[in-house]
Amino acid sequence: MLAGENYVCGRDLATVAFLSLSLGKPLFLEGEAGVGKTEIAKALASGLGRKLIRLQCYEGLDAASAIYEWNFAAQMITIRTAEAAGNADREELQTELFSSDYLIRRPLLDALQPHAEGPPVLLIDEVDRTDEPFEAFLLEVLSDFQVTIPELGPIRAVEPPVVILTSNRTREVHDALKRRCLYHWVDYPAFERELEIVRARVPEATETLSAQVVAFVQGLRKEDLFKGPGVAESIDWARCLVALDAVALSPELITDTLGAVLKYQDDIARIAGAETTRLLDEAQATLAKAS
Ligand SMILES: Nc1ncnc2c1ncn2[C@@H]1O[C@H](COP(=O)(O)OP(=O)(O)OP(=O)(O)O)[C@@H](O)[C@H]1O
Ligand SMILES: [Mg+2]
Repeated sequence: MLAGENYVCGRDLATVAFLSLSLGKPLFLEGEAGVGKTEIAKALASGLGRKLIRLQCYEGLDAASAIYEWNFAAQMITIRTAEAAGNADREELQTELFSSDYLIRRPLLDALQPHAEGPPVLLIDEVDRTDEPFEAFLLEVLSDFQVTIPELGPIRAVEPPVVILTSNRTREVHDALKRRCLYHWVDYPAFERELEIVRARVPEATETLSAQVVAFVQGLRKEDLFKGPGVAESIDWARCLVALDAVALSPELITDTLGAVLKYQDDIARIAGAETTRLLDEAQATLAKAS
C-alpha cells in the first residue's frame, strides 16, 4: 500500500507500520531531518482513504490549542441575548453554554470523533518540541483514546484513530509516552533505496542524474558537516537540476546549486571548490563499481 502511494520503505518500517495498524498501537518514529517520518503518515492516510489530522507541536503548545477550547465569543453572545430577552434562567443557561455546541474541537479531540471514512490518521508531528506538561495530556489520549473535559466528562473514541508520532530527538521523550507506542528509528536509506525514492518522486530526471545525485549526497553524509542532507534534499536537488535541463552532474553545476542540498553557509563554504571535485570523483567511482 505504501509503495502505491509512492512511499519507498524497507521491510522493517513496513512491518512496524503494519503492526501499528493491526494492534491499534501508536507508532513512534524518530530519526534525522527529512528522512520521511512525516510523509509516512500522509501516505498511510491517503492509502487507507482516511482523513489526516495533523498536530504540529511547538514549545508552549497547550491543551487549548491541541485538545479543545470553549467558544467564548459564542457563549458571550448567548448570554447577552438571554439577558436582553429577560429570560436568563441561570441553571439552564449554564447547561447550554457548556454543551458540545460551544466546544471548539482541536486536533486531538477531533481525532477521537467518528468520521464517515473511518478512524482518521492522527499525526502528532515533532513531539520533541513540546514541553513535559503537554506530554502528560498526550498520555491520557494515547493510552485510553479519551480526553476529559471537566464540564462534559470523558470523551472516548468509539474507534481509535491511527496515531503516528514523530521526533527529531532534540530531547528525549518521556519513557511513559514511548511505552505506549511501537518504536522505530528511521535511518538514512542505503544507496539503492534512496535511488528508488528519487526515481519515484522525480521521474523526469535521467537515470544518470538521479544516480549521481544520490551517490553525491550519500558521500556528503560521510563528511563532517554541521547539518547533513536528508532524503528531502536529494529530491529537491534532483528537481533543481532538472529545472536547469541538466542530464549529469559537473563541478560547476554542483557549486551553482549547492543551496538545495546544504543549508548552512559554513557547510557550503567547506564543500564548494576543490572538495566538490573530490566528492564528485568519489561518487563516480562508487557508481562505476556498482554497475
Ligand atoms: N521513503 C520515502 N519515500 C518517498 N518519499 C520520501 C521518503 N522519505 C522522504 N521522502 C520525501 O522527502 C520529503 C521529506 O520527508 P518528511 O517531511 O517526511 O521528512 P521528516 O522525516 O518528517 O523530516 P523533518 O524531521 O524535517 O520533519 C517528503 O516530502 C517526501 O517527498
Ligand atoms: Mg517531519
